[in-house]
Amino acid sequence: MPSGGDDQRHVAAPVASPLLRVENVGLEYRTTERTVRATHRVSFDVFEADRFVLLGASGCGKSTLLKAVAGFIPPVEGSIRIDGQTVAGPGPDRIVVFQEFDQLPPWKTVRENVAFPLRASGRFGRRQAAERADRYIEKVGLSRFADSYPHTLSGGMKQRVAIARALAMQPRVLLMDEPFAALDALTRRRMQEELLELWAETRFTLLFVTHSIEEALLVGNRVGVLTPHPGRMRAEINTHEWDASSEGSAAFQAAASRIHRLLFENDAPGAEGTA
Ligand SMILES: Nc1ncnc2c1ncn2[C@@H]1O[C@H](COP(=O)(O)OP(=O)(O)OP(=O)(O)O)[C@@H](O)[C@H]1O
Ligand SMILES: [Mg+2]
Repeated sequence: MPSGGDDQRHVAAPVASPLLRVENVGLEYRTTERTVRATHRVSFDVFEADRFVLLGASGCGKSTLLKAVAGFIPPVEGSIRIDGQTVAGPGPDRIVVFQEFDQLPPWKTVRENVAFPLRASGRFGRRQAAERADRYIEKVGLSRFADSYPHTLSGGMKQRVAIARALAMQPRVLLMDEPFAALDALTRRRMQEELLELWAETRFTLLFVTHSIEEALLVGNRVGVLTPHPGRMRAEINTHEWDASSEGSAAFQAAASRIHRLLFENDAPGAEGTA
C-alpha cells in the first residue's frame, strides 16, 4: 500500500482556473420573421492578465460575443462564467469600451465622465471618486484636459477618456470592441502602444475585438480566430512574442499570412484547433 508521502508526490500542480470561461456559446437574434445565428458553439478561456483577442471578419459575431460577455445578450446555448459564476446581466466587473467616439455624455467634463461611474457604483464618495478619476486621467495623459468637455477633444482623446473611465472601475475584465478602428493609422498605432503600456503598469485582463490581423498580433497575447458568419472558433494562437518592434519583420508577416489563411480559406479538414 503506498504511503501518504508517495500519494503526495503524484498530486498534479493546481491548474489556474480561468477568470472568464465561454463554453459552447450560441447567440442568436430573433425577429418576428427570422432568426439570425450570430455565433455557433464558441468556446474560449481568458485567464487573469490575459490580453485575449477575438479576431474575425465583419459580421462573424465578435460584437455579439462581447455583448454576451458584458451581459446584454443571453446565450441560447452554452454558458459564460466569470470566476465560476454564470453571467446573468451587466455588472461593474465587466466594462465595455466601444468604437464610437460619442460614448461619453457630452454634458460632463472629462473628470466628471470618469468620476461618475465610480460614484454611481457606490464604492466611492464624491472626493474619492474625483481623486481616483484624476489619477486615471493622468495615466492616459489627459491631465490638462480634465475640465474640458468631450466635444472639444479629438477622437483619440475621447477614446483615452473612455479607457480611463473603464480602468478606474477596475473591472475583472475590460471589454473592448474595436476601440481604435475609427482613428487614423498613426493615432491608432499610438493608442495600441499606450494600451500595452497601461497593461504593463496595471496588468488588467482584456478581451479585445478586432478584424485587423496586425492589431490582433500587437495587442493580444492570445488570439481566437473566428470563422465567417456564423462565428465558430477556428483556431487559438499564442501571440505574446509580437510587439510593435516586430512589425514588418519576416516572421511577423509570416504569422499574419498564416492567420489570413485561417480567416478566409474554406474549412479544411484539421483546420480546427491550435495553430
Ligand atoms: N440587432 C440585430 N438584429 C439582427 N441581427 C443582428 C443584430 N446585430 C447583429 N446582427 C447580425 O448578427 C451577426 C453578427 O453581428 P456582429 O455585429 O456581432 O458582427 P461583428 O463580427 O461584430 O462585425 P463587425 O466586424 O462588422 O463589427 C451579423 O450577421 C449581423 O447581421
Ligand atoms: Mg462588431
